Amino acid sequence: MGSQTRIRWLMILRWLMILTIFLLMGCGNKLDPVQIRDVALGDVSGPITYTKHIKPILEKYCNRCHSSQVQGDGRNGAPISFNFDTYIDAKANGKLGNALLQTGAMPIGGPEVSDKEKVLFQLWIDQDLPE
Ligand code: HEC
Repeated sequence: MGSQTRIRWLMILRWLMILTIFLLMGCGNKLDPVQIRDVALGDVSGPITYTKHIKPILEKYCNRCHSSQVQGDGRNGAPISFNFDTYIDAKANGKLGNALLQTGAMPIGGPEVSDKEKVLFQLWIDQDLPE
């Protein structure tokens, strides 16, 4: 094979690789958000409610600092105006709480909230925070 031919083949190969990468990226982008939610939620059915889905998440990740039952140093600096241990408080602070939870800004000190829990929380907000 002459060096000219080899260079031409290498160029074709390079374009094929670039094309493949674009095709793969295209497929990723085509995934419907609803589909992603279905995959992530698996066994969850019916409306997302505070009592059934959100309370356990808040208890697991937030209420060790953000509870009306926790005062003083136990709050680790969590503002007293931000509690999540009752439905009233969870509803009042839910939107801001969700924004921080989605970006990973909360909980401070982990553990990290799972994708499924993040989707549940977002759906709860989208459905107007039902009890
Ligand atoms: C280890 C203690 C701790 C945990 C756990 C924790 N937070 Fe916080 N939170 C803080 C502290 C400290 C602040 C105040 C400083 C700041 O805003 O970064 C705060 C502030 C907030 C605020 C008010 C932010 C503002 O702009 O004033 C919200 C809302 C909040 N947290 C939500 C949550 C949610 C939702 C979770 C659970 C997913 C959570 N936090 C878990 C300590 C905690």
